[in-house]
Amino acid sequence: MIVLGIETSCDETAASVVTDSGRPRIRADRIRSQLDEHLPYGGVVPEIAARAHLEALDPLIVGALGDAGIGFADLDGVAFTGGPGLIGGVMVGVMTAKALAFAHDKPFLAVNHLEGHALSVRLTEDVAFPYLLLLVSGGHCQLLTVRGPGDFTRLGTTIDDAAGECFDKTAKLLGLGFPGGPAVERAAKGGDPQRFALPRPMWRKPGCDFSFSGLKTAVRQTVEKLDPNDKSAIADLCASFQRTVGDVFVDRCANALTSAPSPTLVVAGGVAANLYLRGRLEEVAARYGARLVAPPIKLCTDNGAMIAWAGIERLRLGRTDALDFRPRPRWPLDPSPHALSARAARGG
Ligand code: KG4
Ligand code: ZN
Repeated sequence: MIVLGIETSCDETAASVVTDSGRPRIRADRIRSQLDEHLPYGGVVPEIAARAHLEALDPLIVGALGDAGIGFADLDGVAFTGGPGLIGGVMVGVMTAKALAFAHDKPFLAVNHLEGHALSVRLTEDVAFPYLLLLVSGGHCQLLTVRGPGDFTRLGTTIDDAAGECFDKTAKLLGLGFPGGPAVERAAKGGDPQRFALPRPMWRKPGCDFSFSGLKTAVRQTVEKLDPNDKSAIADLCASFQRTVGDVFVDRCANALTSAPSPTLVVAGGVAANLYLRGRLEEVAARYGARLVAPPIKLCTDNGAMIAWAGIERLRLGRTDALDFRPRPRWPLDPSPHALSARAARGG
């Protein structure tokens, strides 16, 4: 099976080719980051993102097929992010995928971006369903049981901000640049994780929901009081912040592992690239007799390979989509009334 994967939901344009002949293989993985375009604004500007996707996508697809040494005729399917995400960018991916699938008469595979993250671990690791998933990205923070493609039960979600958003905000307040996650992780090295006592929202409360807005506010208030001559303040604050997020993840995952025991805890999404947090999650998994599995760092942040792979998983089950598919700015993984009743179902 050979599938093209197209990702355009945020600020990365990506096209990959993944094959599955017994063992999955990434045959081509092209990505173009829009960091430079958004840098002057300190965050992603949707209109700029949409235009940049439009300019970058076609050459990336042609380049990816070239890298894989195949032509459109060799594809078994065209997979693309159908949502959730910034609507302008998602539309660029959907329209391009429609044109390709129609012109070359190929199966058309609408992939939920969150499902791309959720299944990405199976592209490189031997992980069987079901597993417990901590999905932590720039816009989402959820705990789910994953039973298969399209088969998710949400155990908890954030009632306000996502963890990645909180990393980005912290980096911005400290002038560390964008995206904030890698910058905070770098700055935290050598810092004192015990120096600043920050609030741990939801800590020791029942359930698996998250909240990060109080932590965000506390970081802002702490930054306002920092002594500019205190050379170690930034490293100490980043380390303390990271430790606090780690404490919250551990506490929430412990509740999840108790209420929905699983031999495998998977962490995915951009924040899963953080090695300190992976270490903390390894500990909590081991405490409950589970093992932590994470995708390689490169596959944690947005990429086309995870979309191609989710397409393969769907294609195997015969789940293709009609060409009248409409882009979905919101698309929860678990649309059950229970999951949607969580205060901020926020697109996923
Ligand atoms: O999954 P992703 O690439 O895009 C979304 O779907 O949102 O996640 C991006 C988020 C950003 O908030 C970024 O700051 C965060 O992932 N991130 C990290 C790290 N690398 C990326 N957060 C903490 N530590 C990292 N090393
Ligand atoms: Zn993502």
